[in-house]
Amino acid sequence: MYYPNFGSFTHCKIGIKMIKNTRSESINLNNKRVFSPFCIYKLFKINEMSEKVYIFDTTLRDGEQVPGCKLNTKEKLALSVRLEELGVDILEAGFPVSSPGDFDSVNQIAKTLKNTVICGLTRAVQKDIEVAAQALKPAARFRIHTGIGTSDLHIKYKFNSTREAIIERAVQAVKMARNFTDDVEFYAEDAGRTDNVYLAQVIEAVVKAGATTLNIPDTTGYCLPYQYQEKMAYLWNNVHNIHKAVLSCHCHNDLGLATANSIAGVMGGARQIECTINGLGERAGNTALEEVVMILNQHKDLGYYTSINPKLLNPISREVSDVMRMAVQPNKAIVGSNAFSHSSGIHQDGFLKEAQTYEIINPAEVGAEDSKIVLTARSGRSALAHRLHKLGYDFNRNDIDALYALFVNVADKKKEVVESDLQTMAAAYQTTMVSQ
Ligand code: KIV
Ligand code: ZN
Repeated sequence: MYYPNFGSFTHCKIGIKMIKNTRSESINLNNKRVFSPFCIYKLFKINEMSEKVYIFDTTLRDGEQVPGCKLNTKEKLALSVRLEELGVDILEAGFPVSSPGDFDSVNQIAKTLKNTVICGLTRAVQKDIEVAAQALKPAARFRIHTGIGTSDLHIKYKFNSTREAIIERAVQAVKMARNFTDDVEFYAEDAGRTDNVYLAQVIEAVVKAGATTLNIPDTTGYCLPYQYQEKMAYLWNNVHNIHKAVLSCHCHNDLGLATANSIAGVMGGARQIECTINGLGERAGNTALEEVVMILNQHKDLGYYTSINPKLLNPISREVSDVMRMAVQPNKAIVGSNAFSHSSGIHQDGFLKEAQTYEIINPAEVGAEDSKIVLTARSGRSALAHRLHKLGYDFNRNDIDALYALFVNVADKKKEVVESDLQTMAAAYQTTMVSQ
């Protein structure tokens, strides 16, 4: 039995072995790891063996479906340019049949972008497919994303149909889409709750009909990571023509597992992740692009890479948040305002001695502002001295001890001690010292 991730497991073992070796040969210099030429050679070897995971961005489709996040054509076009700069491989620009406005947005994006594959969503309906093809026609490269619900729940309640009839509709939709492009992605909606044996039959039939990417959505965010991984591996092992297509993860976040499930899906054999900036999307959202990209980036030993430029992650997160008027939660990984803030004394002391003690990512790597030392009642003397030093005060240890007593009194009354509080405290302390 062939496992698509067998190679990756092998790479993983080799990678871990290499990293183990390289660690002992690297030193830390100014928060950067510096490697010997031999280490660099070995890391290069890991990269050489890595496999690409395609990033399919659906901020402008699944993300834009969120109430309050609707964008006009001008806004969508501006964001699509940013997404291309970020390096997404496929950009789902919209659902062209849904409204004349969305048709126009997809059409304008198709006319403007040069390198990215532009994708349009359809149902397994002839009109949807024809309208999508028309909207996408000007693109240098385009993909039609068509599909249908495959879980028994969808078949019974949405379609009042049968498993056999759904396979037939899926096959017809893929064949119709293939009349317009060689790049057809099929989604099996609610695949997360679809019986694997039946799902494999659907997938085999649509690959035979010409689908080149197979989206396995966990539409309701129900799966556990091991289940989603097993689902992908099951398809890889049981669909005889699966090697002709790319398996894709599309995970929703109803149980907070979208990111974990997408990574598990890749480990099970998928090579595309569908995701959105800031994890925007229906209900609890979709997989956050910035999270999966940084997981694959940080865990190189897994053996995967993406084409995303991580330095643009924070700028694009802010832009999406502004234009969609959707605030990013402060503790959001990678792009939240607290993602690189340290406020407890224990963490601050360690961080000020060596950043890597409490940070696995250098904020500059993801285009974030410098790490912050936030002063609260839980902060310690090192943090206070550090912040005062940044304001130009050069107090000795005894001064800091005295100032710390003043500081905790203020901090107990306030959520955060800010620059102006420190100035007041330092000035008051200096006055007392002069008058003594
Ligand atoms: O979540 C989902 O199943 C979808 C499909 C329409 C791809 O967004
Ligand atoms: Zn979705």
